[in-house]
Amino acid sequence: MKICIVGASGKLGTYMVQHALDRGYEVIGVCRERSVSKLDAFKERITIIPGATNDRTVIKQAVEGCDGVLTVLVPWGNQHYSSGTAQAVLDYAPSGARLIFSCGWHITRDGMDVYPLSLKREEKFARWFGRLTRIMDIDDQVEACRRIFASNTRWTVVRGSDLEEGESQGLPVWSRHVGDPILASNITRRVDYALFMVEALENDALIHEAPAIVGCRTPSALVHMTMAEL
Ligand SMILES: NC(=O)c1ccc[n+]([C@@H]2O[C@H](COP(=O)([O-])OP(=O)(O)OC[C@H]3O[C@@H](n4cnc5c(N)ncnc54)[C@H](OP(=O)(O)O)[C@@H]3O)[C@@H](O)[C@H]2O)c1
Repeated sequence: MKICIVGASGKLGTYMVQHALDRGYEVIGVCRERSVSKLDAFKERITIIPGATNDRTVIKQAVEGCDGVLTVLVPWGNQHYSSGTAQAVLDYAPSGARLIFSCGWHITRDGMDVYPLSLKREEKFARWFGRLTRIMDIDDQVEACRRIFASNTRWTVVRGSDLEEGESQGLPVWSRHVGDPILASNITRRVDYALFMVEALENDALIHEAPAIVGCRTPSALVHMTMAEL
């Protein structure tokens, strides 16, 4: 399988590169020119295409011939970085390719998510802070996902909980809606978030789903699994 990782040099991206190489996939990585050195550990084993991830020429070249594209959607800046990145991937990925996108729980597909007050406050602050400083644009990440949900590509949008570093605990569990009891612990190891993204490439049951994930060893996941066994 030939795959492209858009945003390969970030924390999530480098974990995804490792998981993809472990599976024997051919990997094309896109990252900003200044970040190419972050991928030095992989430079003999992957092809790196430097450039902004919302540069349509860069994405067109990177996704050519790929069976799957893993895209890290980030709301940085005020130049429509997220929506520009998503649109380029939607437009140029080969038809039939599996497209997996990352984002946070704050994205809702059907408006049925029930958010904890703390998360609502965090999002409100991020939106206000982003507008004031122009450092980030949460609404542009929302727009990126709106376009993905409306597309007829074979997409999956993986909605991450709060993240932490640490050794892998295994594939996260997921649910369709934030607020479902299984997700209550709201924490996932970043390495396992990456694992879920890479596994989704070959899991057709996740096509046109926006799974909200949580670590499989967290208290809420364990309670749910114990109850399912009874
Ligand atoms: N952090 C969390 O707690 C959290 C929680 C839930 C979901 N998520 C989701 O997880 C994904 C990864 O997020 P992460 O926080 O773990 O970060 P990350 O993996 O380190 O990724 C950050 C990405 O943003 C790029 N970037 C940083 N500054 C930028 C700028 N000014 N302009 C353009 N690109 C820039 C980085 O590229 P360079 O390598 O070039 O710097 C990198 O590709 C995102 O989709 C996020 O929505 C994160």
